[in-house]
Amino acid sequence: MTGPEKAAAIAARKQTGPPVSMLTAYDYPTARLFDEAGIDALLVGDSLGMVVLGYPDTTHVTLDQMIHHVAAVARAQPRALVIGDLSIGTYPDPATALANARRLVSAGADAVKLEGGVRQAEKVRAIVQAGIPVCGHLGMLPQRVLEEGGYKKKGKTPEQSAALLEGARALVEAGVFAIVLESVIPATAAWLTAQIPVPTIGIGCGEGTCDGEVAVATDLLGSYPWFVPPFAKPEARLAPQITAAASAYVRRVTSR
Ligand code: KIV
Repeated sequence: MTGPEKAAAIAARKQTGPPVSMLTAYDYPTARLFDEAGIDALLVGDSLGMVVLGYPDTTHVTLDQMIHHVAAVARAQPRALVIGDLSIGTYPDPATALANARRLVSAGADAVKLEGGVRQAEKVRAIVQAGIPVCGHLGMLPQRVLEEGGYKKKGKTPEQSAALLEGARALVEAGVFAIVLESVIPATAAWLTAQIPVPTIGIGCGEGTCDGEVAVATDLLGSYPWFVPPFAKPEARLAPQITAAASAYVRRVTSR
């Protein structure tokens, strides 16, 4: 299937179900293992800035870093849709957004994601019209964490909810195939999901409020113990196993 066909199949799940499953992946082995597990979409998220590159937030991530990791994930030749994040500062206007989206696609992405609503609509339209599927991202926008002074819940007031709906409608009108909703309170996430014709993919929005879920790989695997968001639901606890394996190795080597 082509990237646009894969994105269209995900969009159709709004009507047909089942809910869409998405996980972040930043490297070849993780992408391959998640794909073998049957994941619908692999997001090469700019969260890699924190959980892979050791920065305090996503505002340090460059497009070259995104390209490097998108290429690694694409080498797994996943059946899943591969979405590459446009990192901060790489979509200031429609022409630049399209040029940088093309660079992610050349590296192997099937689709791209960018953050924000109304003010991104023309950029989304330019990318979609060039044949590249775009996933929106509303609610808490990690690329704006410094301006906002932290990771805050969204959709708590009627004004915030109305702004989210306005943003979602602008993105839909511009042609997104899905919208990630991050840290939107459950009632607002469910309400938004019912208002728009494309799937919402939730993170930190409560269970069953969106048309699908996305999780950061290290939250799922328990492999980044220094910061675990309150909504994370680990299915494994790899960090102590990695430390134990390395300790056993150190003992084996130093005791001979
Ligand atoms: O970068 C990322 O991993 C994301 C998810 C949190 C949705 O955008």
